[in-house]
Amino acid sequence: MLRVILLGSPGVGKGTQAKMLSQHYLVPQISTGDMLREARKNKTDLGLQAEGYMVKGQLVPDAVVVGIVENRVGQRDCLGGFVLDGFPRTVAQATSLRTMLARRGEKIDVVVNLEVPDAVVIRRLSGRRVCKSCGANYHIEFSPPLHDERCDACGDEIMQRKDDGEEIVRERLRVYREQTHPLVKYYEQEGLLKRLDGSLETAVVWKGLQGILDKVV
Ligand code: AP5
Repeated sequence: MLRVILLGSPGVGKGTQAKMLSQHYLVPQISTGDMLREARKNKTDLGLQAEGYMVKGQLVPDAVVVGIVENRVGQRDCLGGFVLDGFPRTVAQATSLRTMLARRGEKIDVVVNLEVPDAVVIRRLSGRRVCKSCGANYHIEFSPPLHDERCDACGDEIMQRKDDGEEIVRERLRVYREQTHPLVKYYEQEGLLKRLDGSLETAVVWKGLQGILDKVV
């Protein structure tokens, strides 16, 4: 059983580490960013509602995001735990999460805050590329695809995320500091917070994360 939150500013590597964690500990990755992007791609009501906020680097309203997470953690595959990636992002979301889990007799086991300086984040996000079809993640410098501009997994085109332009990244960082960073203190006071240097190589960060999680499971 493992219920974990990966916290940290945009581009610290939450998605990268959450995927590895999900495969290693056999728990689903719940990424609100991925769910919202999927909804946008499919032009659902949720996607259309979220679009305007996401392209500006602002947060989608709490009620919308809490609703999709509540629905997701209630599914069968979450009975053995999950990794939350990109949620919660406000104190209101964290409070709602605690309430929704308590109703089911559950609670978060550990919160890991990935720490990376802004300059490194900007470099990571400006070089990030994602596959148009399967969403696989690349970096033009640190983890490029084997063949130029094509996904290793499915062969489709890779592209830059709309919110990875430098101006929007700066806005995302501002929003993070204002609305999400207070969660570090929130979870510290709950006694759940662990800190991890996310600026190291992916494999080194993963080793550090495993060191934390192996003590919890
Ligand atoms: P979301 O998709 O969650 O974006 P984010 O939090 O800004 O996080 P990122 O996906 O940009 O970065 P990451 O930390 O996952 O890093 P990654 O592993 O990809 O949210 C997008 C938008 O959706 C938000 O702005 C908001 O509008 C909305 N939203 C989502 N959740 C919401 C919520 N709860 N409430 C309200 N609104 C919400 O890595 C980045 C790059 O670096 C990659 O290229 C990767 O290959 C590379 N990399 C990773 N680790 C390393 C390493 N150790 N060394 C070198 N390179 C690395």
